Amino acid sequence: SGGPGAGLGPEAEADPALLRASSPELARRLRGLALVRSGFVSDGEAVELLREVEPQLGRGRYQSDHWDRAITGYREMERGLRGLAGRALLARVTPAFPPRRPPRPRAHVLDLLPEGHVGPHVDSVKFCGCTIAGVSLLSPSVLRLRSLRDPQDWLELLLEAGSLYILRGTARYEFTHEILPDEESFFGGLRVPRERRVALIFRNDPLGETP
Ligand code: OGA
Ligand code: MN
Repeated sequence: SGGPGAGLGPEAEADPALLRASSPELARRLRGLALVRSGFVSDGEAVELLREVEPQLGRGRYQSDHWDRAITGYREMERGLRGLAGRALLARVTPAFPPRRPPRPRAHVLDLLPEGHVGPHVDSVKFCGCTIAGVSLLSPSVLRLRSLRDPQDWLELLLEAGSLYILRGTARYEFTHEILPDEESFFGGLRVPRERRVALIFRNDPLGETP
């Protein structure tokens, strides 16, 4: 209630229309740990954010494969978002992070082709801390989490263009996450056609890596 970024902490409720789980128990277990907010950035902000990152993205080639995760049809970069919309965005995702573990100022910008996908993986614990916050631009997609210990336990988030998702704690460490390829891109009965998607992903440092 009130203030930019309010309600992004572990107490926050996910929008049930944007979340599907293998069981009510699992949905309960991940409450506040896997969240999605639609309409987090406006269309105008999205245009401004894309305008800032497109020139540098455009200089990269699309690739397939990465040392750390199964990923195809992508290009990526890390950069500080210096424009007005970018700085405002960093400020607005910061409440999703623990006060003493803020997001790194440089965002991970991931550009996925319509036929690209991000296979199941856990973000490196060596390079990334407890919280991941991702803003999706241009295309909707489905983010699926799956328990490392009990692979029958899964959670899916519907990521609309302009939405924000947050993964923290158990959802970040004990579940893989993936962006479904177009041919599997369904949210229950809802087909979620994949277009080109640009994600701005904010992460904090792992414990012991910051001064
Ligand atoms: C990643 C990742 C998800 C996304 O690049 O590690 O999980 O939202 N990306 O694109
Ligand atoms: Mn990841």
